[in-house]
Amino acid sequence: MSTATQPLSALYDPLVYETAPPLALIDELRAQHSVVWVDEKALPDWPGGNGFWLVLRHAEVSSVLKQPKLYSSAAGATQLRDPTTPTDLAYVQQMMLNMDPPVHSRLRRLLQNSFTSRAVAGLEQSIAGHARSIVDRIIAGQTSGECDFARDIAADMPLLCLADLFGMPAEDRYLLFDWANRVIGFQDPEYAVSASFDPSSGSDIAREALKLRPAPDQQGRMPDPRTRSGMPDLYHYAHLLARHKRGHPGDDIMSLLLAQVDEDGGSVSIAEFENLFWLFAVAGNETVRNGIPGGMIALLQNPQALRDLQADLSRLPRAVDEMLRWWTPVMIFRRTATTDTRLADVTIKKGDKVVVSFLSANRDERLFDDPQQFNINRHPNAHLTFGYGPHFCLGAQLARAQMNALFSEVLGRFASIEANGEPGFLRSNFQRGIKTLPIRWTTR
Ligand code: HEM
Repeated sequence: MSTATQPLSALYDPLVYETAPPLALIDELRAQHSVVWVDEKALPDWPGGNGFWLVLRHAEVSSVLKQPKLYSSAAGATQLRDPTTPTDLAYVQQMMLNMDPPVHSRLRRLLQNSFTSRAVAGLEQSIAGHARSIVDRIIAGQTSGECDFARDIAADMPLLCLADLFGMPAEDRYLLFDWANRVIGFQDPEYAVSASFDPSSGSDIAREALKLRPAPDQQGRMPDPRTRSGMPDLYHYAHLLARHKRGHPGDDIMSLLLAQVDEDGGSVSIAEFENLFWLFAVAGNETVRNGIPGGMIALLQNPQALRDLQADLSRLPRAVDEMLRWWTPVMIFRRTATTDTRLADVTIKKGDKVVVSFLSANRDERLFDDPQQFNINRHPNAHLTFGYGPHFCLGAQLARAQMNALFSEVLGRFASIEANGEPGFLRSNFQRGIKTLPIRWTTR
């Protein structure tokens, strides 16, 4: 099948996303179908595959996500493409993202019990301080200037927040920048080899862990970062941190987690902690780093919304949810059908891959009036940016808090903000990533 706009391969071709996601194609497909079959041809930047069902409308995306018995996260994994070997697949299946209830529910409960309202309130307080110091650093006593909003403003926020959450030394936070780049950006030649962290600027744990940092081979290829052997530096760091925290618990969320006891009297093992560290370092980092500049692009394209928010910052919470809907930093996730079933008007076979498109569901005209329009007054706003059902994002509240705090500082202190060149986008069919977003600003 093809459409008037682009071939269906544009849906999964990572190169396409360096310019923009194929939104016109997605809109056109959604107008005709709830679910379409997509063949996966080999492309210069993507090996051929068995094909998948792409779920486009909000109702069907929600329906898939809330039925883990029918659409499993554990039968395969949840990225568009599984790791290549059975050992590597078995390995990622130890992550909670790739588990089904009831196995998934145990870890989820332990984590939810660690995100106590006191711990989250503590994090939110430090988030406001981080936002202030990030903007202080940019302004640095000047009344006007230029910066890269993505690199200089957005990137630091999730790193500082995760360092608090893990109770890790703040100077080690740029390790998380490299790690998330390598995992999320593995389709992108620049991010796949990210190694900007200088070991001499880190803690003892960081220096020890970085002895294992992999280097590109002669062809410039890195080991698959979705495997344990691809991220030995991250795993060693997590291992040393967990050992340290067992001996010296702090009031951070990961110390609370390590102290939790489940119904059977068990606790989170060091191996489970290491996997959770991987997941949080990746899931809680690049997502926010892309959500924040996504919101800024929305404001730059809609200067009246920017002025309205500057005039009344109390409108930010709704605006932040609209930024998250309009940009949709995580574009897709995948499930595997456990049995033959029907979804909308198609028959899905046991073992078929079913890919939900958050990007499409968040633009579904059946649910959102004028969905292409960025509207800071949109309410209700039932976007699926954080997923739905048993895997609903554990960091949604934290992500919103970071965006609210940062936009509150930026819009409160800058009188004018303008684009200062073209943005640069990540080569990825998974995350809608923004690598650079040059802006010009003046202060109030
Ligand atoms: C704008 C920012 C974010 C977006 C768009 C986002 C998106 C998502 C989505 C779509 C899922 C569901 C995956 C599925 O159904 O298979 C998810 C799960 C998850 N997210 Fe987020 N996320 C964000 C921020 C965060 C943050 C800040 C954290 C942690 C600090 C986090 C931690 C997680 C975890 C641990 C899961 C797995 C939950 C489970 O398997 O039960 N996320 N996220």
